[in-house]
Amino acid sequence: MFAVPTDKLKPGIILAEEVRDINGRLLLAKGNEIDDNHIRIFKIWGVSEVTVEGQAQNSDKFDPELNPEIFEKAYDRVRVLFRHTDLAHPVVKKLFNLAVQFRCKQNEIEVDSDVDIDAHEINPEDQCENFINRLDKRKIVLPEIPSVVFELNEVIANPISSAEHIAQVVNKSPSLTALLLKIVNSSFYGFPSKIGKVSHAVTLIGTREISGLALGISILSIFKNIPKEMIDMYSFLKHSLACGILSRILAAQKNFGQTEQLFVSGLLHDLGRLILYLYFTKESRNILSCSRNNDKLLYEAEQDYLGCDHAQLGQHLMEQWKLPLILENSVLYHHNPSEARQPLPAAIVHLADIIVNSLGIGSSGEKYVPPLDTAAWGNLDLPLSSFDTIIGQATHQLDSLESILQV
Ligand SMILES: [Fe+2]
Ligand SMILES: [Fe+2]
Repeated sequence: MFAVPTDKLKPGIILAEEVRDINGRLLLAKGNEIDDNHIRIFKIWGVSEVTVEGQAQNSDKFDPELNPEIFEKAYDRVRVLFRHTDLAHPVVKKLFNLAVQFRCKQNEIEVDSDVDIDAHEINPEDQCENFINRLDKRKIVLPEIPSVVFELNEVIANPISSAEHIAQVVNKSPSLTALLLKIVNSSFYGFPSKIGKVSHAVTLIGTREISGLALGISILSIFKNIPKEMIDMYSFLKHSLACGILSRILAAQKNFGQTEQLFVSGLLHDLGRLILYLYFTKESRNILSCSRNNDKLLYEAEQDYLGCDHAQLGQHLMEQWKLPLILENSVLYHHNPSEARQPLPAAIVHLADIIVNSLGIGSSGEKYVPPLDTAAWGNLDLPLSSFDTIIGQATHQLDSLESILQV
């Protein structure tokens, strides 16, 4: 018997060991012949590999012919991106190679999309000790969470609510309804037939999952009008969505039950940056300038300039919105998860963010791959061989969801 990554499974292979989902539910017993439907179900539940009968066929050794010119460009680009990482660490090394391969396969090397800013020194008087105090002092009215999210949480908390009740609340917002249906009909869930009603979607994927999706979508849509000179919102949302998708897959890998919470945490992890871009344009320009001119990580430039970073700012907003603590925890510690009270979910978002930055899928303004929290990696301890499959699943789901970014 031998292990086969899910995306390399072919119908007709005999399963040598049972396959279970993240809740321990049996998906397929050993001895069964795998068909297309089983493969689809394994992908939905984030099963990255299964053990099958027979002998390994060396199927992993596929080495596409790389264009040497593209390879060289990709390699140079990735070296710059990984400037702040420890390339001797096996995880970083693996991600470095995947980052080069990913660009070669796409046959495209992205260039820096800098904001239009002049190089200048930061005036120490512009810096502040505690930015969150300044937020309060300036009486910035932070955005309200859409009322549909509150209503939804109320209905879901009521044990006698039916799928129909939940659908009634969602249907009050036509844009939310349209987006939810787009998502449940994409390969993110992979249902074989079309789902046309929200009540049907609730029955199929569950109330927690629907409320998580509604929460993430509604919050990000608040910020859709940020000026393009500051940040390309499409790119920001792509980075966020990719991070949400990867966090959900990694959570399933680690048998972490609340996969929908991890999806939302990944989706919202850089929320604090949106507050900066939207309400503190001058400060944001200075921070971006400081990061680029001094080759600094963006969150370090934020700390230097504001006395706090986007992770703290995001958590501050989530606290005001009274969002679940697990979201606050994962957002606050996504750059230093080993310090979190709940280190595992924070470590999942941390790794997802590093992978997305390595591959260059969208951008939240950060120019470099953030360093790996090695203590947090000890907590995750995933087989490095699963990275290829995880990234394959995530990019497949992202492709099918990309249309929801056009809001
Ligand atoms: Fe971040
Ligand atoms: Fe990020």
